[in-house]
Amino acid sequence: MALRATTPVKSERHKSVETGHVRVAILDFGSQYTHLIARRIRELGVFSEVLRYDTPPAEIAVNTGAIVLSGGPSSIYAADAPRPDPGVFELGIPVLGICYGMQAMAQALGGGVSPSKTREYGPMGFAPNTVHPLFDGLEETLQVWMSHGDEVAEPPPGFDVLGRSSDGKIAAIGSDERRAYGLQFHPEVIHTEGGGRLLENFVRRVSGIKGDWTTRAFVDETIEDIRNIVGDSRVVCALSGGVDSSVMSVLIHKAIGDRLVPIFVDNGVLRKGEELDVIQRLKEKLGIGIDVVDAADRFLAALSGVTDPERKRKIIGHEFIRIFEEEARKLGDIRFLAQGTLYPDVIESVSVKGPSATIKSHHNVGGLPEQMDLELIEPLRTLFKDEVRKVGAELGIDADILGRHPFPGPGLAIRILGEVTKDRVAILQDADAIALDEIRRAGLYDDIWQAFVVLLPVRTVGVMGDERTYEHVVSVRAVHSLDGMTAHWFRMPYEVLERISARIINEVRGVNRVCYDISSKPPSTIEWE
Ligand code: XMP
Repeated sequence: MALRATTPVKSERHKSVETGHVRVAILDFGSQYTHLIARRIRELGVFSEVLRYDTPPAEIAVNTGAIVLSGGPSSIYAADAPRPDPGVFELGIPVLGICYGMQAMAQALGGGVSPSKTREYGPMGFAPNTVHPLFDGLEETLQVWMSHGDEVAEPPPGFDVLGRSSDGKIAAIGSDERRAYGLQFHPEVIHTEGGGRLLENFVRRVSGIKGDWTTRAFVDETIEDIRNIVGDSRVVCALSGGVDSSVMSVLIHKAIGDRLVPIFVDNGVLRKGEELDVIQRLKEKLGIGIDVVDAADRFLAALSGVTDPERKRKIIGHEFIRIFEEEARKLGDIRFLAQGTLYPDVIESVSVKGPSATIKSHHNVGGLPEQMDLELIEPLRTLFKDEVRKVGAELGIDADILGRHPFPGPGLAIRILGEVTKDRVAILQDADAIALDEIRRAGLYDDIWQAFVVLLPVRTVGVMGDERTYEHVVSVRAVHSLDGMTAHWFRMPYEVLERISARIINEVRGVNRVCYDISSKPPSTIEWE
Protein backbone atom coordinates (compact mmCIF):
# COMPACT_ATOMS: atom_id res chain seq x y z
CA MET A 1 0.00 0.00 0.00
CA ALA A 2 1.63 3.17 -1.15
CA LEU A 3 -0.69 5.69 0.38
CA ARG A 4 1.37 7.95 2.60
CA ALA A 5 0.07 11.45 3.06
CA THR A 6 -2.07 12.56 5.91
CA THR A 7 -2.64 16.10 4.90
CA PRO A 8 -4.86 18.93 6.09
CA VAL A 9 -6.99 18.62 3.00
CA LYS A 10 -7.35 15.00 3.86
CA SER A 11 -7.62 14.56 7.60
CA GLU A 12 -11.21 14.63 8.77
CA ARG A 13 -10.20 14.75 12.40
CA HIS A 14 -8.27 17.94 12.30
CA LYS A 15 -9.74 19.85 9.44
CA SER A 16 -11.18 22.44 11.74
CA VAL A 17 -7.89 22.73 13.54
CA GLU A 18 -6.20 23.49 10.27
CA THR A 19 -8.76 25.97 9.07
CA GLY A 20 -9.39 27.59 12.41
CA HIS A 21 -13.17 27.44 11.97
CA VAL A 22 -15.15 26.89 15.11
CA ARG A 23 -17.06 23.74 14.44
CA VAL A 24 -20.08 21.89 15.66
CA ALA A 25 -19.00 18.32 16.36
CA ILE A 26 -21.74 15.78 15.70
CA LEU A 27 -21.23 12.47 17.45
CA ASP A 28 -22.78 9.76 15.31
CA PHE A 29 -24.79 7.10 17.11
CA GLY A 30 -25.93 5.57 13.83
CA SER A 31 -28.99 7.59 12.84
CA GLN A 32 -29.96 7.70 9.21
CA TYR A 33 -30.33 11.48 9.71
CA THR A 34 -26.83 12.25 11.05
CA HIS A 35 -25.64 13.75 7.78
CA LEU A 36 -28.75 15.95 7.72
CA ILE A 37 -27.73 17.50 11.03
CA ALA A 38 -24.36 18.34 9.49
CA ARG A 39 -26.04 19.84 6.44
CA ARG A 40 -28.55 21.95 8.37
CA ILE A 41 -25.76 23.40 10.49
CA ARG A 42 -23.61 24.18 7.49
CA GLU A 43 -26.58 25.94 5.94
CA LEU A 44 -26.24 28.36 8.85
CA GLY A 45 -22.71 29.13 7.67
CA VAL A 46 -21.23 27.15 10.56
CA PHE A 47 -18.68 24.41 9.95
CA SER A 48 -19.83 21.01 11.21
CA GLU A 49 -18.24 17.59 11.22
CA VAL A 50 -19.47 14.09 11.98
CA LEU A 51 -17.28 12.14 14.43
CA ARG A 52 -17.60 8.62 15.73
CA TYR A 53 -19.55 8.49 18.99
CA ASP A 54 -16.52 7.10 20.82
CA THR A 55 -14.06 9.80 19.77
CA PRO A 56 -12.07 10.74 22.91
CA PRO A 57 -13.36 13.96 24.56
CA ALA A 58 -10.00 15.71 24.23
CA GLU A 59 -10.21 15.22 20.49
CA ILE A 60 -13.85 16.24 20.31
CA ALA A 61 -13.01 19.49 22.08
CA VAL A 62 -10.53 20.75 19.50
CA ASN A 63 -11.98 23.96 18.04
CA THR A 64 -15.46 22.80 18.93
CA GLY A 65 -18.07 25.37 19.93
CA ALA A 66 -20.97 22.95 20.33
CA ILE A 67 -21.60 19.22 20.38
CA VAL A 68 -24.63 17.37 19.00
CA LEU A 69 -25.35 13.76 19.92
CA SER A 70 -27.21 12.22 16.99
CA GLY A 71 -30.08 9.79 17.12
CA GLY A 72 -29.50 6.11 16.59
CA PRO A 73 -31.30 2.82 16.14
CA SER A 74 -30.22 1.22 19.43
CA SER A 75 -32.04 0.94 22.71
CA ILE A 76 -29.95 2.41 25.51
CA TYR A 77 -30.51 -0.82 27.47
CA ALA A 78 -28.91 -3.10 24.92
CA ALA A 79 -25.61 -4.47 26.20
CA ASP A 80 -23.81 -3.28 23.07
CA ALA A 81 -25.55 0.10 22.87
CA PRO A 82 -23.11 2.86 21.89
CA ARG A 83 -22.62 5.19 24.87
CA PRO A 84 -20.97 8.61 24.97
CA ASP A 85 -17.86 9.02 27.11
CA PRO A 86 -19.11 10.84 30.27
CA GLY A 87 -16.16 13.20 29.80
CA VAL A 88 -18.06 14.74 26.88
CA PHE A 89 -20.35 16.44 29.40
CA GLU A 90 -17.44 17.83 31.42
CA LEU A 91 -15.85 19.78 28.59
CA GLY A 92 -17.85 22.94 29.28
CA ILE A 93 -19.05 22.89 25.67
CA PRO A 94 -22.81 23.17 25.00
CA VAL A 95 -24.41 19.82 24.12
CA LEU A 96 -27.62 18.99 22.29
CA GLY A 97 -28.82 15.38 22.38
CA ILE A 98 -31.31 14.39 19.71
CA CYS A 99 -33.60 11.37 20.20
CA TYR A 100 -31.28 8.50 21.17
CA GLY A 101 -28.66 11.18 21.86
CA MET A 102 -30.96 12.74 24.47
CA GLN A 103 -31.57 9.37 26.10
CA ALA A 104 -27.86 8.56 26.12
CA MET A 105 -27.14 11.93 27.72
CA ALA A 106 -29.93 11.53 30.28
CA GLN A 107 -28.63 8.11 31.25
CA ALA A 108 -25.02 9.27 31.47
CA LEU A 109 -26.00 12.14 33.79
CA GLY A 110 -28.16 10.11 36.16
CA GLY A 111 -31.63 10.51 34.67
CA GLY A 112 -34.12 7.72 34.07
CA VAL A 113 -34.81 6.21 30.69
CA SER A 114 -37.43 3.54 30.19
CA PRO A 115 -39.18 1.74 27.36
CA SER A 116 -42.28 3.66 26.26
CA LYS A 117 -45.65 2.00 26.83
CA THR A 118 -46.81 3.63 23.64
CA ARG A 119 -44.20 4.25 21.04
CA GLU A 120 -44.12 7.53 19.16
CA TYR A 121 -43.42 7.35 15.45
CA GLY A 122 -44.01 9.96 12.79
CA PRO A 123 -45.68 13.35 13.18
CA MET A 124 -46.57 14.43 16.69
CA GLY A 125 -47.43 17.66 18.47
CA PHE A 126 -44.86 19.39 20.68
CA ALA A 127 -45.25 22.35 23.02
CA PRO A 128 -42.48 24.12 24.94
CA ASN A 129 -43.58 24.77 28.51
CA THR A 130 -41.15 27.58 29.18
CA VAL A 131 -39.62 30.63 27.55
CA HIS A 132 -36.12 29.66 26.51
CA PRO A 133 -33.59 30.89 23.89
CA LEU A 134 -33.81 27.41 22.34
CA PHE A 135 -37.41 28.10 21.36
CA ASP A 136 -36.99 31.70 20.18
CA GLY A 137 -39.20 32.60 17.25
CA LEU A 138 -41.16 29.33 17.35
CA GLU A 139 -44.91 28.82 17.51
CA GLU A 140 -46.51 27.73 20.76
CA THR A 141 -47.13 24.27 19.41
CA LEU A 142 -45.24 22.55 16.65
CA GLN A 143 -45.71 19.51 14.55
CA VAL A 144 -42.50 17.50 14.98
CA TRP A 145 -41.05 14.20 13.76
CA MET A 146 -40.66 11.45 16.34
CA SER A 147 -39.16 8.01 16.03
CA HIS A 148 -38.49 6.30 19.34
CA GLY A 149 -39.38 3.36 21.55
CA ASP A 150 -37.62 4.47 24.76
CA GLU A 151 -38.27 7.69 26.61
CA VAL A 152 -36.74 9.91 29.24
CA ALA A 153 -39.00 9.29 32.26
CA GLU A 154 -36.93 11.30 34.73
CA PRO A 155 -34.61 14.16 33.72
CA PRO A 156 -31.12 14.02 35.25
CA PRO A 157 -30.54 16.06 38.43
CA GLY A 158 -30.32 19.76 37.61
CA PHE A 159 -32.30 19.38 34.37
CA ASP A 160 -35.76 20.83 33.73
CA VAL A 161 -38.48 19.55 31.48
CA LEU A 162 -38.64 22.18 28.73
CA GLY A 163 -41.47 20.73 26.67
CA ARG A 164 -43.80 17.79 26.17
CA SER A 165 -45.29 15.91 23.26
CA SER A 166 -49.03 16.08 22.64
CA ASP A 167 -49.48 12.82 24.55
CA GLY A 168 -47.74 14.30 27.55
CA LYS A 169 -44.32 12.67 27.31
CA ILE A 170 -41.11 14.49 28.08
CA ALA A 171 -39.89 15.75 24.71
CA ALA A 172 -37.34 18.43 25.66
CA ILE A 173 -35.04 18.76 28.65
CA GLY A 174 -32.28 21.15 29.55
CA SER A 175 -29.88 22.50 32.12
CA ASP A 176 -28.73 26.08 31.57
CA GLU A 177 -26.02 25.61 34.15
CA ARG A 178 -24.49 22.75 32.21
CA ARG A 179 -25.60 24.20 28.85
CA ALA A 180 -26.88 20.71 27.97
CA TYR A 181 -30.18 20.10 26.19
CA GLY A 182 -32.14 17.22 24.77
CA LEU A 183 -34.89 16.91 22.17
CA GLN A 184 -36.82 13.69 21.76
CA PHE A 185 -37.78 14.58 18.18
CA HIS A 186 -35.66 15.23 15.11
CA PRO A 187 -35.19 18.96 14.37
CA GLU A 188 -33.02 18.10 11.35
CA VAL A 189 -35.79 16.56 9.23
CA ILE A 190 -38.00 18.79 7.12
CA HIS A 191 -41.15 17.30 8.65
CA THR A 192 -40.35 19.07 11.93
CA GLU A 193 -41.86 22.57 11.92
CA GLY A 194 -39.30 25.14 13.00
CA GLY A 195 -36.60 22.45 13.13
CA GLY A 196 -34.07 24.63 11.34
CA ARG A 197 -34.80 27.49 13.74
CA LEU A 198 -34.31 25.17 16.74
CA LEU A 199 -30.89 24.11 15.49
CA GLU A 200 -30.06 27.71 14.72
CA ASN A 201 -31.09 28.76 18.23
CA PHE A 202 -28.89 26.06 19.72
CA VAL A 203 -25.90 26.94 17.56
CA ARG A 204 -26.14 30.72 17.64
CA ARG A 205 -28.11 31.72 20.73
CA VAL A 206 -27.19 28.98 23.18
CA SER A 207 -23.66 28.25 21.96
CA GLY A 208 -22.82 31.72 20.61
CA ILE A 209 -21.22 30.50 17.40
CA LYS A 210 -21.03 32.99 14.55
CA GLY A 211 -21.07 31.58 11.06
CA ASP A 212 -17.79 31.85 9.19
CA TRP A 213 -18.14 28.81 6.93
CA THR A 214 -18.58 30.45 3.55
CA THR A 215 -17.75 29.29 0.08
CA ARG A 216 -15.26 32.13 -0.28
CA ALA A 217 -13.53 31.12 2.96
CA PHE A 218 -13.41 27.50 1.84
CA VAL A 219 -11.84 28.42 -1.48
CA ASP A 220 -9.21 30.74 0.03
CA GLU A 221 -8.26 28.34 2.78
CA THR A 222 -8.16 25.28 0.58
CA ILE A 223 -5.95 27.02 -1.94
CA GLU A 224 -3.56 27.93 0.85
CA ASP A 225 -3.68 24.39 2.25
CA ILE A 226 -2.89 22.91 -1.13
CA ARG A 227 0.05 25.28 -1.61
CA ASN A 228 1.45 24.39 1.80
CA ILE A 229 1.14 20.67 1.28
CA VAL A 230 2.24 20.41 -2.29
CA GLY A 231 5.15 22.84 -2.11
CA ASP A 232 7.09 22.65 -5.35
CA SER A 233 5.86 19.16 -6.22
CA ARG A 234 3.50 18.17 -8.97
CA VAL A 235 0.00 16.71 -8.70
CA VAL A 236 -1.75 14.40 -11.11
CA CYS A 237 -5.50 13.82 -11.29
CA ALA A 238 -8.05 12.12 -13.49
CA LEU A 239 -10.40 14.63 -15.07
CA SER A 240 -13.64 13.14 -16.40
CA GLY A 241 -15.53 16.30 -17.32
CA GLY A 242 -17.97 15.63 -14.45
CA VAL A 243 -18.74 18.20 -11.79
CA ASP A 244 -16.47 16.93 -9.00
CA SER A 245 -13.32 16.41 -11.02
CA SER A 246 -13.83 19.69 -12.88
CA VAL A 247 -14.23 21.72 -9.67
CA MET A 248 -11.32 19.92 -8.05
CA SER A 249 -9.04 20.56 -11.01
CA VAL A 250 -9.87 24.24 -11.18
CA LEU A 251 -9.34 24.61 -7.43
CA ILE A 252 -5.95 22.91 -7.48
CA HIS A 253 -4.98 24.77 -10.62
CA LYS A 254 -5.72 28.06 -8.86
CA ALA A 255 -3.35 26.94 -6.11
CA ILE A 256 -0.40 25.57 -8.04
CA GLY A 257 -0.97 26.41 -11.71
CA ASP A 258 0.60 24.10 -14.23
CA ARG A 259 2.11 21.90 -11.59
CA LEU A 260 -1.29 20.23 -11.70
CA VAL A 261 -1.49 17.71 -14.52
CA PRO A 262 -5.08 16.62 -15.17
CA ILE A 263 -5.36 13.56 -17.38
CA PHE A 264 -8.48 13.07 -19.45
CA VAL A 265 -8.85 9.60 -20.93
CA ASP A 266 -11.17 9.24 -23.90
CA ASN A 267 -12.34 5.66 -23.49
CA GLY A 268 -14.46 5.59 -26.63
CA VAL A 269 -17.71 5.16 -24.70
CA LEU A 270 -18.36 8.81 -23.88
CA ARG A 271 -21.40 10.85 -24.85
CA LYS A 272 -21.31 12.49 -28.24
CA GLY A 273 -18.90 15.38 -27.88
CA GLU A 274 -20.04 16.31 -24.36
CA GLU A 275 -17.07 15.44 -22.22
CA LEU A 276 -14.62 16.71 -24.78
CA ASP A 277 -16.60 19.92 -24.93
CA VAL A 278 -16.25 20.40 -21.17
CA ILE A 279 -12.54 19.67 -21.33
CA GLN A 280 -12.14 22.15 -24.16
CA ARG A 281 -13.93 24.83 -22.18
CA LEU A 282 -11.95 24.21 -19.02
CA LYS A 283 -8.83 24.43 -21.13
CA GLU A 284 -9.76 27.64 -22.89
CA LYS A 285 -11.71 29.59 -20.32
CA LEU A 286 -9.69 28.64 -17.28
CA GLY A 287 -6.36 28.13 -18.98
CA ILE A 288 -5.75 24.66 -17.59
CA GLY A 289 -3.33 22.45 -19.47
CA ILE A 290 -4.96 19.04 -19.85
CA ASP A 291 -3.33 15.84 -20.96
CA VAL A 292 -5.90 14.27 -23.31
CA VAL A 293 -5.32 10.59 -24.04
CA ASP A 294 -7.21 9.09 -26.94
CA ALA A 295 -7.59 5.47 -25.93
CA ALA A 296 -10.89 4.70 -27.67
CA ASP A 297 -9.53 1.89 -29.83
CA ARG A 298 -7.75 0.32 -26.91
CA PHE A 299 -10.91 0.21 -24.78
CA LEU A 300 -13.07 -1.06 -27.64
CA ALA A 301 -10.55 -3.81 -28.37
CA ALA A 302 -10.59 -4.85 -24.72
CA LEU A 303 -14.39 -4.90 -24.72
CA SER A 304 -14.69 -6.88 -27.92
CA GLY A 305 -17.01 -9.87 -27.56
CA VAL A 306 -17.86 -9.05 -23.92
CA THR A 307 -21.55 -8.94 -22.97
CA ASP A 308 -21.53 -9.45 -19.19
CA PRO A 309 -22.13 -6.10 -17.40
CA GLU A 310 -19.74 -6.71 -14.51
CA ARG A 311 -16.97 -7.81 -16.87
CA LYS A 312 -17.48 -4.65 -18.89
CA ARG A 313 -17.05 -2.55 -15.75
CA LYS A 314 -13.95 -4.44 -14.66
CA ILE A 315 -12.32 -4.25 -18.05
CA ILE A 316 -12.92 -0.51 -18.26
CA GLY A 317 -11.68 0.03 -14.71
CA HIS A 318 -8.49 -1.97 -15.23
CA GLU A 319 -7.76 -0.48 -18.59
CA PHE A 320 -8.23 2.99 -17.12
CA ILE A 321 -5.76 2.33 -14.33
CA ARG A 322 -3.19 0.96 -16.74
CA ILE A 323 -3.45 3.97 -19.03
CA PHE A 324 -3.37 6.38 -16.12
CA GLU A 325 -0.25 4.73 -14.76
CA GLU A 326 1.45 4.80 -18.12
CA GLU A 327 0.70 8.49 -18.51
CA ALA A 328 1.79 9.32 -14.98
CA ARG A 329 5.05 7.44 -15.54
CA LYS A 330 5.68 9.38 -18.72
CA LEU A 331 5.31 12.60 -16.75
CA GLY A 332 8.16 11.60 -14.48
CA ASP A 333 8.47 13.20 -11.11
CA ILE A 334 4.96 13.42 -9.64
CA ARG A 335 4.35 13.21 -5.91
CA PHE A 336 0.60 13.62 -5.37
CA LEU A 337 -2.60 12.15 -6.69
CA ALA A 338 -5.74 14.28 -6.23
CA GLN A 339 -9.11 12.60 -5.88
CA GLY A 340 -12.59 14.10 -5.80
CA THR A 341 -13.85 12.28 -2.71
CA LEU A 342 -16.89 14.02 -1.19
CA TYR A 343 -18.15 14.23 2.38
CA PRO A 344 -20.88 11.55 2.14
CA ASP A 345 -18.11 8.99 1.49
CA VAL A 346 -16.19 10.27 4.51
CA ILE A 347 -19.27 10.10 6.72
CA GLU A 348 -19.83 6.55 5.55
CA SER A 349 -16.34 5.67 6.68
CA VAL A 350 -16.62 7.19 10.18
CA SER A 351 -20.12 5.85 10.73
CA VAL A 352 -20.94 3.96 13.89
CA LYS A 353 -21.85 1.06 11.67
CA GLY A 354 -18.14 0.80 11.10
CA PRO A 355 -15.95 1.88 8.25
CA SER A 356 -17.83 0.99 5.12
CA ALA A 357 -16.39 -2.07 3.48
CA THR A 358 -16.50 -0.49 0.08
CA ILE A 359 -16.81 3.16 -0.60
CA LYS A 360 -18.55 2.62 -3.90
CA SER A 361 -15.79 2.08 -6.36
CA HIS A 362 -17.45 4.30 -8.90
CA HIS A 363 -17.20 7.32 -6.63
CA ASN A 364 -13.57 7.52 -7.43
CA VAL A 365 -11.16 6.15 -9.89
CA GLY A 366 -11.34 2.76 -8.26
CA GLY A 367 -8.10 1.40 -6.98
CA LEU A 368 -5.74 4.09 -8.17
CA PRO A 369 -4.06 4.97 -4.89
CA GLU A 370 -3.38 1.41 -3.90
CA GLN A 371 -1.58 0.76 -7.10
CA MET A 372 0.54 3.83 -7.41
CA ASP A 373 3.33 5.25 -5.35
CA LEU A 374 1.63 8.59 -4.82
CA GLU A 375 0.43 10.58 -1.86
CA LEU A 376 -3.25 11.37 -1.80
CA ILE A 377 -4.92 14.76 -1.52
CA GLU A 378 -8.69 15.12 -1.44
CA PRO A 379 -9.58 18.82 -1.39
CA LEU A 380 -13.36 18.29 -1.59
CA ARG A 381 -13.62 15.74 1.18
CA THR A 382 -15.40 18.10 3.57
CA LEU A 383 -18.09 19.09 1.05
CA PHE A 384 -21.54 17.93 0.10
CA LYS A 385 -22.43 17.87 -3.60
CA ASP A 386 -24.33 21.16 -3.55
CA GLU A 387 -21.40 22.78 -1.74
CA VAL A 388 -19.11 21.54 -4.52
CA ARG A 389 -21.37 23.29 -7.01
CA LYS A 390 -21.20 26.52 -5.00
CA VAL A 391 -17.41 26.29 -4.89
CA GLY A 392 -17.44 25.74 -8.65
CA ALA A 393 -19.53 28.87 -9.14
CA GLU A 394 -17.20 30.84 -6.87
CA LEU A 395 -14.31 29.66 -9.06
CA GLY A 396 -16.06 30.96 -12.18
CA ILE A 397 -17.04 27.60 -13.70
CA ASP A 398 -20.08 27.89 -15.99
CA ALA A 399 -23.46 26.90 -14.58
CA ASP A 400 -24.10 24.38 -17.33
CA ILE A 401 -20.91 22.49 -16.44
CA LEU A 402 -21.86 22.54 -12.76
CA GLY A 403 -25.42 21.39 -13.46
CA ARG A 404 -24.46 18.39 -15.58
CA HIS A 405 -26.21 15.11 -14.97
CA PRO A 406 -24.08 12.35 -13.44
CA PHE A 407 -22.44 10.07 -15.96
CA PRO A 408 -21.09 6.65 -14.99
CA GLY A 409 -17.39 5.83 -15.30
CA PRO A 410 -18.04 2.83 -17.61
CA GLY A 411 -20.01 5.24 -19.80
CA LEU A 412 -22.09 4.05 -22.71
CA ALA A 413 -20.66 0.54 -22.34
CA ILE A 414 -23.26 -0.18 -19.66
CA ARG A 415 -26.00 1.44 -21.75
CA ILE A 416 -25.29 -0.76 -24.74
CA LEU A 417 -26.81 -4.07 -23.73
CA GLY A 418 -24.86 -6.88 -25.33
CA GLU A 419 -21.63 -6.34 -27.17
CA VAL A 420 -20.03 -2.91 -27.39
CA THR A 421 -18.91 -2.20 -30.94
CA LYS A 422 -17.90 1.01 -32.68
CA ASP A 423 -21.13 0.98 -34.74
CA ARG A 424 -23.35 0.45 -31.75
CA VAL A 425 -21.55 3.20 -29.81
CA ALA A 426 -22.19 5.56 -32.74
CA ILE A 427 -25.91 4.69 -32.85
CA LEU A 428 -26.31 5.25 -29.12
CA GLN A 429 -24.31 8.48 -29.13
CA ASP A 430 -26.58 9.93 -31.81
CA ALA A 431 -29.81 8.81 -30.16
CA ASP A 432 -28.64 10.03 -26.74
CA ALA A 433 -27.60 13.43 -28.12
CA ILE A 434 -31.05 13.90 -29.67
CA ALA A 435 -32.87 12.98 -26.45
CA LEU A 436 -30.78 15.40 -24.40
CA ASP A 437 -31.15 18.11 -27.01
CA GLU A 438 -34.95 17.86 -26.88
CA ILE A 439 -34.95 17.72 -23.08
CA ARG A 440 -32.85 20.88 -22.97
CA ARG A 441 -35.02 22.65 -25.52
CA ALA A 442 -38.09 21.82 -23.45
CA GLY A 443 -36.38 23.43 -20.45
CA LEU A 444 -36.50 20.17 -18.49
CA TYR A 445 -32.79 19.37 -18.12
CA ASP A 446 -32.44 20.94 -14.68
CA ASP A 447 -35.64 19.27 -13.41
CA ILE A 448 -34.19 15.85 -14.09
CA TRP A 449 -31.49 14.09 -12.06
CA GLN A 450 -30.30 12.01 -14.96
CA ALA A 451 -31.53 11.36 -18.51
CA PHE A 452 -30.07 9.12 -21.18
CA VAL A 453 -30.77 6.52 -23.83
CA VAL A 454 -30.11 2.78 -23.75
CA LEU A 455 -29.52 0.60 -26.79
CA LEU A 456 -31.24 -2.78 -26.53
CA PRO A 457 -29.90 -6.04 -27.94
CA VAL A 458 -33.02 -6.81 -29.96
CA ARG A 459 -34.32 -5.88 -33.37
CA THR A 460 -37.90 -5.24 -34.32
CA VAL A 461 -39.85 -4.97 -37.54
CA GLY A 462 -40.93 -1.61 -38.86
CA VAL A 463 -41.88 0.04 -42.10
CA MET A 464 -40.22 3.10 -43.59
CA GLY A 465 -41.51 4.38 -46.92
CA ASP A 466 -42.52 1.20 -48.67
CA GLU A 467 -39.82 -0.85 -47.12
CA ARG A 468 -39.90 -3.29 -44.28
CA THR A 469 -37.15 -2.60 -41.76
CA TYR A 470 -35.64 -4.83 -39.10
CA GLU A 471 -33.66 -2.62 -36.79
CA HIS A 472 -32.62 -1.61 -33.29
CA VAL A 473 -34.76 -0.53 -30.34
CA VAL A 474 -33.68 2.18 -27.90
CA SER A 475 -35.17 3.11 -24.57
CA VAL A 476 -35.17 6.61 -23.13
CA ARG A 477 -34.63 6.83 -19.37
CA ALA A 478 -35.13 9.91 -17.17
CA VAL A 479 -35.34 9.92 -13.39
CA HIS A 480 -35.84 12.14 -10.40
CA SER A 481 -33.49 11.45 -7.51
CA LEU A 482 -31.81 13.15 -4.58
CA ASP A 483 -28.66 11.10 -4.35
CA GLY A 484 -28.95 8.27 -6.85
CA MET A 485 -29.80 5.79 -4.09
CA THR A 486 -33.50 5.81 -4.91
CA ALA A 487 -35.19 7.21 -7.99
CA HIS A 488 -38.59 7.81 -9.57
CA TRP A 489 -39.19 7.80 -13.28
CA PHE A 490 -39.66 11.29 -14.62
CA ARG A 491 -43.15 12.26 -15.85
CA MET A 492 -41.93 13.39 -19.26
CA PRO A 493 -44.55 15.37 -21.20
CA TYR A 494 -45.96 13.37 -24.15
CA GLU A 495 -45.00 16.09 -26.63
CA VAL A 496 -41.36 15.89 -25.60
CA LEU A 497 -41.41 12.09 -25.81
CA GLU A 498 -42.98 12.35 -29.22
CA ARG A 499 -40.33 14.72 -30.52
CA ILE A 500 -37.53 12.57 -29.12
CA SER A 501 -39.00 9.45 -30.69
CA ALA A 502 -39.66 11.02 -34.08
CA ARG A 503 -36.24 12.58 -34.29
CA ILE A 504 -34.37 9.45 -33.24
CA ILE A 505 -36.22 7.28 -35.74
CA ASN A 506 -35.81 9.82 -38.54
CA GLU A 507 -32.26 10.86 -37.85
CA VAL A 508 -30.48 7.82 -36.45
CA ARG A 509 -29.88 5.16 -39.00
CA GLY A 510 -30.49 1.70 -37.62
CA VAL A 511 -33.19 2.55 -35.04
CA ASN A 512 -36.87 1.98 -35.80
CA ARG A 513 -38.46 1.92 -32.34
CA VAL A 514 -38.21 4.06 -29.18
CA CYS A 515 -39.52 3.07 -25.72
CA TYR A 516 -39.74 5.02 -22.45
CA ASP A 517 -38.61 3.36 -19.21
CA ILE A 518 -41.18 3.86 -16.42
CA SER A 519 -39.50 1.85 -13.69
CA SER A 520 -38.37 3.30 -10.39
CA LYS A 521 -35.44 2.39 -8.14
CA PRO A 522 -35.90 0.12 -6.26
CA PRO A 523 -36.66 -2.41 -7.59
CA SER A 524 -34.97 -1.35 -10.84
CA THR A 525 -31.71 0.57 -10.97
CA ILE A 526 -31.06 3.82 -12.81
CA GLU A 527 -28.63 2.26 -15.27
CA TRP A 528 -29.72 -0.83 -17.18
CA GLU A 529 -26.53 -2.78 -16.51
P1 XMP B 1 -27.68 2.64 -10.40
O1 XMP B 1 -27.69 2.12 -11.79
O2 XMP B 1 -26.88 1.80 -9.45
O3 XMP B 1 -26.96 4.05 -10.46
O4 XMP B 1 -29.07 2.90 -9.88
C1 XMP B 1 -26.91 5.00 -9.43
C2 XMP B 1 -26.04 6.15 -9.88
O5 XMP B 1 -24.69 5.72 -10.00
C3 XMP B 1 -24.24 5.86 -11.33
N1 XMP B 1 -23.46 4.67 -11.64
C4 XMP B 1 -22.14 4.66 -11.81
N2 XMP B 1 -21.24 5.66 -11.78
N3 XMP B 1 -19.51 4.11 -12.25
C5 XMP B 1 -19.93 5.38 -12.03
O6 XMP B 1 -19.09 6.28 -12.04
C6 XMP B 1 -20.35 3.05 -12.27
O7 XMP B 1 -19.95 1.92 -12.49
C7 XMP B 1 -21.74 3.35 -12.06
N4 XMP B 1 -22.86 2.59 -12.02
C8 XMP B 1 -23.89 3.41 -11.76
C9 XMP B 1 -25.49 5.97 -12.17
O8 XMP B 1 -25.25 6.65 -13.40
C10 XMP B 1 -26.42 6.70 -11.25
O9 XMP B 1 -26.16 8.09 -11.24
